[in-house]
Amino acid sequence: MKYSPLKKSGLTLSKIGLGTWAFSGEKGAYHWGPQDSSVAKQIILRSLENGINWIDTAPSYGLGNSEQIIGEALRDWSEEVIISSKCGLIPDRDNSLKPSLLKESIFKEVEQSLLRLGVDTIHLYQIHWPRDTSHLDEAWESLLLLKDQGKILCPGVSNYSTKQLNKNTSKKQLSFLQSPLSLISQDTLNSQLPWCRKENIGFLAYSPLQNGLLSGFASNEWRSRIHETDWRKLKSNWFQDPIFQHVINYTHSLKLIAQELGLSLSEFALNWAIQQKGVTAAIVGCRSLQQLDAHLSYKSVTFATNTIREVEEKFRNFKAELHTSKIELKKVQESSKVCNSQSLA
Ligand SMILES: NC(=O)c1ccc[n+]([C@@H]2O[C@H](COP(=O)([O-])OP(=O)(O)OC[C@H]3O[C@@H](n4cnc5c(N)ncnc54)[C@H](OP(=O)(O)O)[C@@H]3O)[C@@H](O)[C@H]2O)c1
Repeated sequence: MKYSPLKKSGLTLSKIGLGTWAFSGEKGAYHWGPQDSSVAKQIILRSLENGINWIDTAPSYGLGNSEQIIGEALRDWSEEVIISSKCGLIPDRDNSLKPSLLKESIFKEVEQSLLRLGVDTIHLYQIHWPRDTSHLDEAWESLLLLKDQGKILCPGVSNYSTKQLNKNTSKKQLSFLQSPLSLISQDTLNSQLPWCRKENIGFLAYSPLQNGLLSGFASNEWRSRIHETDWRKLKSNWFQDPIFQHVINYTHSLKLIAQELGLSLSEFALNWAIQQKGVTAAIVGCRSLQQLDAHLSYKSVTFATNTIREVEEKFRNFKAELHTSKIELKKVQESSKVCNSQSLA
C-alpha cells in the first residue's frame, strides 16, 4: 500500500480509503440492498490488516448503520484508524433525510457519530452536501468550533463547487475536499481538482469505480442481479437504458486498454483516479472479501502518454455517443448529483 500526506493535517493517508456507504443495510431511503454486517466487519478488519488506514462513512449511510458497524469492528482493532465522517443530513419522516447545516444540528450529529464510532475524535469531518445553502457559513464556523473542542481534527467539505469553496470556507483551515472522480464522472478534473492543487488542499476522490460500473463486470446480466431495493437499480440514471448501454460500450473499450497493461478494469480505473495530479487518495467501496482482495492487490502503475491519449479519446467517443442519443453527460451527472444528495451518499 502506498501513502500520501494530507495537506496541513499532519496525517498520512493510504492511497485507498475504505468506503462504507454500501454497509447501510436496508436502512434509509437510498441503500445498496441487503448487506451482511458480519462480512462488513470482516472487510473493515482485513482492510486494516493490509495497510488501509482510513475509513469513510456518514451518519446518512443506513441512518447510522455504517458508523455503528465500524464502531463494532474497531473494538477488535488496537491501532489508530483515521475516520472520515460527515454532517448536514438529518433523518426526516418516511426514512428519508433532510439537509440541515444549523450549528445546533451539527453539534448533535457529531456527538451521535462519536458515540456510534466509539471514538473521542473524528479525524476528517466534512459537510456532506452544500444543500442547506442559507447556512453554509454557519456550518463552516461550527466545524472550526468542533476542531477547537477536539471533537474533530480536520475540517473539510464534500461536493462543494469552486465558488462555494472560495466563499463558504476558509482556505487556511480547510484540509480537504471530498469529490466524485472516475473515468465516467470527470467534471471535477478541470474545476475543483486544480483549485485544490492551487490552494494546497487535499482532494479525496470518491466513487472511483462509479458505483461498480467500472468494476469490469458491468453487463445487462450483472445489472439484472442487482437487488431490487438497491438505489442504483431504482434511482441512478447511469443504470437506466439507454445510458447504461452506452456505459457498457465505453467500459468495454476501457477494458481492452487495461488488458494491454495487464490490469483489470477496476485496477485501471483506480489507478486513473489516484494518478490525477492533486488527488491525495481515493475512496473505494466493496461488499465482499473477494472485492476487497481485488482492491488490495492494486498495483500502482503510471500510465504512458499514449495510454492517457487513448483514454481521452474513448471518453470523447463516449460523450459523442451519448450526444447522438440526445443525452448530455453534464445533465446525467447533474441529475445523478441531485440523486446522490437526496440519497445523501
Ligand atoms: N461524499 C459523498 O457525497 C460520497 C458520495 C458517494 C460515495 N462516497 C464515498 O465513497 C465510497 C466509494 O464510492 P461508491 O461506494 O459509490 O462506489 P465505488 O467505489 O465506485 O464502487 C464500489 C462498488 O463497486 C462494486 N465493486 C467494487 N469492487 C468490485 C470488484 N472487484 N468486483 C466487482 N464489483 C466490485 C461493489 O458493488 P456491487 O458488488 O454491489 O456491485 C462496490 O460496492 C462510498 O462508500 C462512500 O464512502 C461519498
